[in-house]
Amino acid sequence: MINDKKILCAPVQGITDCHWRNAHNEIFGGPDGYYGPFMRVEHNDIRKRDIADALPENNKVSVFTPQILGCRPKDALRMVEKLTEMGHRNIDINLGCPFPPIALHHKGAGLLQYPDEVEKLFKALAEVDGVSYSVKMRLGWDESYHWREIIPLFDILKPSQVVVHPRTGRQQYKGVLNLDEFSSLLDCCPFPVVYNGELKSLEEIDRIVKIFPDISGLMIGRGLIEDPAMLCPEKGTADNYCELHNRLRDAYSEQLNGGEHQLLLKMKSLWEVFLPNAPHKALKAIKKSTSMAKYNIAVNELFYSM
Ligand SMILES: Cc1cc2nc3c(=O)[nH]c(=O)nc-3n(C[C@H](O)[C@H](O)[C@H](O)COP(=O)(O)O)c2cc1C
Repeated sequence: MINDKKILCAPVQGITDCHWRNAHNEIFGGPDGYYGPFMRVEHNDIRKRDIADALPENNKVSVFTPQILGCRPKDALRMVEKLTEMGHRNIDINLGCPFPPIALHHKGAGLLQYPDEVEKLFKALAEVDGVSYSVKMRLGWDESYHWREIIPLFDILKPSQVVVHPRTGRQQYKGVLNLDEFSSLLDCCPFPVVYNGELKSLEEIDRIVKIFPDISGLMIGRGLIEDPAMLCPEKGTADNYCELHNRLRDAYSEQLNGGEHQLLLKMKSLWEVFLPNAPHKALKAIKKSTSMAKYNIAVNELFYSM
């Protein structure tokens, strides 16, 4: 909690999987809860890795909430059934994914322009006994007023909270945050609202809490990936960053069955977002490495130079 507000770790596909969440929680900690990247149905099946990522035995953080992609009621119910079988009782619904191949199929943020479809989805989900939902959304798909037709539908679902990223889906992850529209949403929404977007420092958290004292919490995505010690600067030591990195490398090495090329790609994708303020030369050497042996030397040099 910061200033009486809960702090949540956002889901980020490809990065904040169970390995990252468990390691982050143990080494750095700070968030009051962690959200899983969305589970989805693909080729008529729930993806196996999404199931593994949500299994309670693979999640060692104290508060973990799995997420499903907002989609057709039939597929959503299937995922809710799977998650409840695992023992989950709190499930987040993604109405925020802006990725065009998803959104253009009336999923994620793409659903925000179709309130009739959202209504059908909420009605179907509300029928499931013993499950409490939260929602993660944007202001709209290509217009920042779409939320106005979505908020009244929350009466069907009674979400425990609504996380709002104050951009449209079309804006993806860049561009102006529409704080005026967020403020109107906050005034209209009868359920707890969590702010999410570009929180990269404790000062920025303070600033948002001062502007919106009525929010119930703040959710942080890229800020925590870039600097896992963002919430606890005293833990931002080279040793701790190295520990997080090594745990991820070991977990992916096992997951990828020792496939060197795949492991190298996976680890390089982490460095696209991890520690962007580390010495430039060392980061470049990591990104240019052509084998795990060279990669490991470059990584050691980077942590040594911090
Ligand atoms: C590569 C990437 C993957 C993401 N995956 C998810 C996801 O699976 N579920 C979700 O709700 N949000 C996802 N998000 C959005 C983040 O949770 C968050 O809402 C967004 O990054 C804005 O917050 P930030 O500025 O703190 O990063 C993703 C964002 C990025 C950049």
